[in-house]
Amino acid sequence: MSRLAVLVALAAALVAFVALPSRSDDGPAGDRRRLAQDAGATAAGGDRPGSLAVFETVAPVESLMTGLAGSFSRVREALEDVEERNRLRRVESWSEVVAELANVVVLHGPDQAWRDLAADTRETALELASASRAEAVDELLLVTLVDRIDASCAACHDADY
Ligand code: HEC
Repeated sequence: MSRLAVLVALAAALVAFVALPSRSDDGPAGDRRRLAQDAGATAAGGDRPGSLAVFETVAPVESLMTGLAGSFSRVREALEDVEERNRLRRVESWSEVVAELANVVVLHGPDQAWRDLAADTRETALELASASRAEAVDELLLVTLVDRIDASCAACHDADY
């Protein structure tokens, strides 16, 4: 390939990349499709066991709630365990577990309001994970974020689902 052809190919690839549709508001089907795409899945690999070609949730909301309640309790326990050497590391991991479970709860959404509520739990839990790995940890911020996660759970429980 000539140098010009390489440049043209690179430019075309760049244009194609920039033109990729950004995250749009197309609900759980779109969320599932994007998960599959992000996992690098191809149609050909679709029926392999363990394949991520199509992400399907396998547990009902009630079980995800059991997981959310359990992992959120672990966040609180870790935060209070001031004797524990890996305290912040534990807060971080359990917050990420909360975030991932909320992320799956998003996919169960019957409507956009549900998806927004679950996404709020997810984003707040990710903020907590990030705050717990800060170089100078702000303890007050950690407590505030735990309260905000709690409020985000309650916001969905108070909605009529
Ligand atoms: C987007 C909505 C939504 C969010 C966000 C949410 N929940 Fe729930 N939660 C529900 C629904 C709906 C139920 C009722 C589920 C059922 O019984 O089928 C429920 C039920 C529960 C239950 C009772 C489960 C049972 O055995 O019946 C617990 C505990 C719970 N949630 C904890 C949490 C915690 C902790 C969080 C936040 C970290 C949270 N939930 C966030 C929707 C939500």
